[in-house]
Amino acid sequence: MEETSGTLCRFVAMSAFGAAVMLTVHQSLTSPAFAEGGYEKVEKAIQQVIAAPVDKEYGEYLAGECATCHSSHADPDAEIPQLVGRSSEDLIRAMVEYRTGYRDNQVMQTTMATKSDEEIASLAAWFASN
Ligand code: HEC
Repeated sequence: MEETSGTLCRFVAMSAFGAAVMLTVHQSLTSPAFAEGGYEKVEKAIQQVIAAPVDKEYGEYLAGECATCHSSHADPDAEIPQLVGRSSEDLIRAMVEYRTGYRDNQVMQTTMATKSDEEIASLAAWFASN
């Protein structure tokens, strides 16, 4: 009886450890992957996002996640950079620079790590037109 629960316990602990390792590996693969390739690779990724299909409604939906930090209306005193009314290309550039690890900011790198080209293009289009 005790033998069984001990084995079960070890199995659970090992699974948790495995998940943590996989998460770490995943993060190191997604984030600074481009940093070593120089800016050329970043630029290529930026151009790819600029060419990606845009869905502004989806962009608005995704932007809900950003509102906690980025004010959704013009606020000259805001400490976190404003996104509304900015050029779509500038926003795409910044977002891809975070996603590739070229721009170093933990919060924004994590936020962008899981965004697809289409999601970044849609976010930029929405912010640019608001
Ligand atoms: C937890 C807070 C937080 C959240 C959530 C967040 N951001 Fe940011 N964002 C920041 C901070 C802080 C900076 C400035 C970082 C730096 O100094 O590079 C920033 C910078 C940026 C920049 C660069 C602006 C510039 O002028 O350089 C863009 C673009 C951006 N965020 C887009 C987004 C989008 C789109 C989302 C939602 C999908 C989002 N952020 C969610 C905190 C946040």
